[in-house]
Amino acid sequence: MRVLVLGGGGREHALAWKLSRSPSVKEIWCAPGNAGLARDVDTMSLAPDTPEGIEQAVQFAQEKKIDLTVVGPEAPLILGAVERFEKEKLKIFGPNHQAAQLEGSKCFAKEFMDRHGIPTAAFRTFDNPGEARRFVEKTTLPVVIKADGLAAGKGVVIARERAQALQAIDAMMLEKRFGEAGSKIVVEDFLPGTEMTLIVLTDGETALPLETAQDYKPALNGNQGPNTGGMGCYSPHVPLKDPLINEILDRLIYPALAGLRIEKIPYCGAIYAGLMLTEEGPQVLEFNVRFGDPEAQAILFRLKSDLAEVLQACLEERLNEVTLDWDSRPSVCVVGASQGYPGPFESGFLIEGLEEVEQEAAASGSELKVFFAGVKGEAGAPSGLPLYTSGGRVLGVTALGETLEQARAKAYQAIKKIRFTGLSYRDDIGIPYGLPLPVRSH
Ligand code: AMP
Ligand code: GLY
Repeated sequence: MRVLVLGGGGREHALAWKLSRSPSVKEIWCAPGNAGLARDVDTMSLAPDTPEGIEQAVQFAQEKKIDLTVVGPEAPLILGAVERFEKEKLKIFGPNHQAAQLEGSKCFAKEFMDRHGIPTAAFRTFDNPGEARRFVEKTTLPVVIKADGLAAGKGVVIARERAQALQAIDAMMLEKRFGEAGSKIVVEDFLPGTEMTLIVLTDGETALPLETAQDYKPALNGNQGPNTGGMGCYSPHVPLKDPLINEILDRLIYPALAGLRIEKIPYCGAIYAGLMLTEEGPQVLEFNVRFGDPEAQAILFRLKSDLAEVLQACLEERLNEVTLDWDSRPSVCVVGASQGYPGPFESGFLIEGLEEVEQEAAASGSELKVFFAGVKGEAGAPSGLPLYTSGGRVLGVTALGETLEQARAKAYQAIKKIRFTGLSYRDDIGIPYGLPLPVRSH
């Protein structure tokens, strides 16, 4: 099989690396990839988050006779990459642009959940800042304000004080901090509980859950600071055999699949459910239409099954025949970011210490891996060391351990050996957070 992965971050490194280990995969490219992952798989320069880039990707897939394209980020999905590939009879894993609205528009997602009885925080949507402000003047606190459109995980404000909520409305709707993404907003109740990511693969009928994870979205220790795309995660959070997983599938995921069918929206791909496990049961905070980043790094590191075969079964609507085989050991992924992220940051700094970490990783027998995101190579040498920083999230050190504590220790030992100007990471990745899991009778 010849495989193409679209995207260029840490998640795409994990996807491409895992797919490259499938015996059925003979050749694999990542487009555009990055100079770090280019040490594992071939890359091709194009921008899949633009219509021109999607056209180039279609052409590349035709030229190279690609059997399976896997879309990493949301942007190409929202732009309709899947329809474009399917028009040329090219196989592609991911939902079409209509289904991608589940992630592309928080208003669409909330209204979809409402229509199909999927538990989620009570909410109102607004396209008028005056009305939003008047509502927030009276509502109970804390309150959550969300920009409707894509904001790279940064368009959510949890306001504990009224002034902060009003400020968030102004920043999104008047100052247009997120451009058009903030012209509509969702205002919703704050849900106390413990957060969990459950990603399922689906062919539209069957939902095949991947091992769970807990993601750390805020930039700073103790979940302080602004929200980011994700500063690290661990897997598993709740084990798949826990009755809670069936409850989530029955009450949240299958109703979503039924809703998509009722609305005649086909779906083949991954659904990322960002969940809050509350005293009243699991509730959906958000749906994403792809694998998570950095969840993919931690989760796929534990997957023993042949990912290419699983994705192919999904495309052939045979997911009901698949069972996944997992490494029972927990994993932790610690993201190393550029200082200032998710705000402005400088880049172009030399990354040192990778050889030592990678030698240790090789000696550890695949218990440690650095997945690369915002990195670039030397001019004229687009792959191979040395690497320089070129993005907010630079890399993710991922480790397996006999216990969560051991996986955490291993990931931190490794990231401490990596050096670049402004390297920032949280110290508490792998320490579960949130309220204790609610004890419920099933
Ligand atoms: P979202 O992008 O909608 O998942 O929101 C980003 C983060 O904000 C989530 O991962 C939660 O940590 C937090 N969050 C969002 N909505 C709520 C809510 N209704 N109650 C509590 N926390 C929330
Ligand atoms: N880690 C959060 C996300 O992928 O959306």
